[in-house]
Amino acid sequence: MNTYKIAPSILSADYANFEAELKKLETTGAEYVHIDIMDGHFVPNISFGAGVVAAMRPHSKLVFDCHLMVSNPEHHIEDFARAGADIISIHAEATLHIHGALQKIRAAGVKPSVVINPGTPVEAVKNVLNLVDQVLVMTVNPGFGGQAFLPETMDKIRELVVLREVNGLNFDIEVDGGIDNQTVGLAKEAGANVFVAGSYVFKGDVKAQVATLKDALNA
Ligand code: DX5
Ligand code: ZN
Repeated sequence: MNTYKIAPSILSADYANFEAELKKLETTGAEYVHIDIMDGHFVPNISFGAGVVAAMRPHSKLVFDCHLMVSNPEHHIEDFARAGADIISIHAEATLHIHGALQKIRAAGVKPSVVINPGTPVEAVKNVLNLVDQVLVMTVNPGFGGQAFLPETMDKIRELVVLREVNGLNFDIEVDGGIDNQTVGLAKEAGANVFVAGSYVFKGDVKAQVATLKDALNA
């Protein structure tokens, strides 16, 4: 049984106060901090790089779940490993060499995770499922926080659950985008067990917001 984990996305936090924001997250019972890296090329928006992740690292004991929305992520793996990433997610659409790039993450001592956009079928990652600790199914088009959840992505989670079972594999299934106390239940029913939430967590008291997600998962 893959246990449920909440991954608040720091993309919706106060960028001038990461230290305080990370300390607050530590009190919520969330397991991960989701860190969105955007390059202005693979996605239209630019967020922050490995230097910022390294600066955050001493201020949190939570698992750093780094989501690289960058072209050719294989060029940046060592930097994020050195910065203190525990999990590195890279997009199947962002490189011609997803297999080798995932191996590179493992070789750097970090847990590899592969991501698919809403328009990308599960088929695109079928041949690398044996290399990963996590598959991230985007539930919005990547680039910005605060977008609406796309329910049509749930079928892909169901497909992944079957593939995991049939092939005797053991990876977590993460969802990212538009997760709130309603949609978290839809993703859980489909078979996801790691839930990223940005705007929903940071729009109020982070501890109370995370508690509503945990309640919805336990309902
Ligand atoms: C979107 C990012 C998400 C983002 C989610 O491109 O990958 O992690 O922070 O934000 P919400 O939860 O507001 O949809
Ligand atoms: Zn993300």
